[in-house]
Amino acid sequence: MRVRLSGAENWKYSSSLTGDKSLSHRSLILASMASSPSRIKGLSKGADVASTGSVLGQLGSRIETGREEVVTVSGWGDSGPKEPEAVLDCGNSGTTIRLMAGLLAGCSGLFIMDGDESLRKRPQGRIIRPLTQMGGRLWARRNDTLCPLVVKGGGLSAFRGKPEVASAQVKSSIILAALAAGVEVELEELGYTRDHTENMLRGLGVPIGTDDLKVHLPAGPHRFEGFEFTVPGDPSSAAFLVAAAVLGTGTRVKIDGVCLNPTRTGFFTILQRMGAKIEMTQTETRMGEPVGTITAESSRLIGTTVEPEEVPPAIDEFPLLAVVATAAEGHTVVQGAEELRVKESDRIRCVVNELSKMGARITEAPDGFTVYGPTQLNGAAVECHHDHRLEMSLAVAALTAEGNTNLLNAGWASISFPEFWDFYPGERLILD
Ligand code: S3P
Repeated sequence: MRVRLSGAENWKYSSSLTGDKSLSHRSLILASMASSPSRIKGLSKGADVASTGSVLGQLGSRIETGREEVVTVSGWGDSGPKEPEAVLDCGNSGTTIRLMAGLLAGCSGLFIMDGDESLRKRPQGRIIRPLTQMGGRLWARRNDTLCPLVVKGGGLSAFRGKPEVASAQVKSSIILAALAAGVEVELEELGYTRDHTENMLRGLGVPIGTDDLKVHLPAGPHRFEGFEFTVPGDPSSAAFLVAAAVLGTGTRVKIDGVCLNPTRTGFFTILQRMGAKIEMTQTETRMGEPVGTITAESSRLIGTTVEPEEVPPAIDEFPLLAVVATAAEGHTVVQGAEELRVKESDRIRCVVNELSKMGARITEAPDGFTVYGPTQLNGAAVECHHDHRLEMSLAVAALTAEGNTNLLNAGWASISFPEFWDFYPGERLILD
């Protein structure tokens, strides 16, 4: 699909968003492990969460959407997942393959997991190594690094150590493996990453402890009952609307019911430091997750330096930060963000190349990039690289660009934010 975009001014918006992607994956997974049915509202309608749903379905979990889009999950509970007859297709979703590989390593059966062209390029050694250290039997293509991957579940013992990367997916993979196998975890993180798995488990009565960068799950078995949960809105989706409001003229956005977990709001904090008028107000807590309202309006921005420890809480928002930084006075430096190279695309190289085509002054570093602003972007033909967040970031850039922008090979937004184009304040023409 090719899309032509042009800018918009003076828009005002007030809305809430459907469910956070990370919390939606975890809700479906934990509901499938629970001993009784669960009811989940506001689940993300993105393709990544659908991949988790269909994998869980192949493993024997019954997931049904009822009235008012309440999803009922009747999982395998205490009897464990059934061995599937076919390959488990994780689509484009790194969270699906990494969390599910962990869980399945702790269960009995043979499981083969695969994904699309982009997922087949993403590193899986980071989960295979710690799970193997626990006694897991996992194999993958290219010397146990790339999917398809094979899990022969069972036989796990405790995990004690430090995963090699600061990654919530790796941490959650280990926790789910241990939870399924009933073994202990004593883990220390390299940096703070999203803690939704820990919060949800605690909310379900599992005695998981956290202290600074340490996570402790005592040996199980830990049984838990089904639950009711309304998934808070996705801050990573809200980020696109916030950025569009900040970059616009006379623009304002208010979004209610968003997950405001500090391990997720790093992008907003960085933007506030750049001078953006953004406010976050907590109104409630759900399953240990702070939830509230974000407002943002058009702002004058100055460049900033993003330190390595600020990277994990903003990990999914760096292509968008690069776009925002083109409007800031002075330079914006991102460092310690080499993880961006192994996301759905190499997000350092791709954002540098594509924004350069639009006239941005941006340079690449091994672990980040520097943007020299402010610059007036120009419409150009830019490539989406199979990457939902890159596509949506370029669409936001198009709002501020002079002339039309053509998004080539578009159509990826539905991976995480299927409603993106309904909210998009610019004009859009689908060319083919
Ligand atoms: C996710 C964790 C992050 C993030 C991804 C979702 C999760 O990946 O980029 O979109 O739900 O755990 P890493 O933990 O590998 O950085």
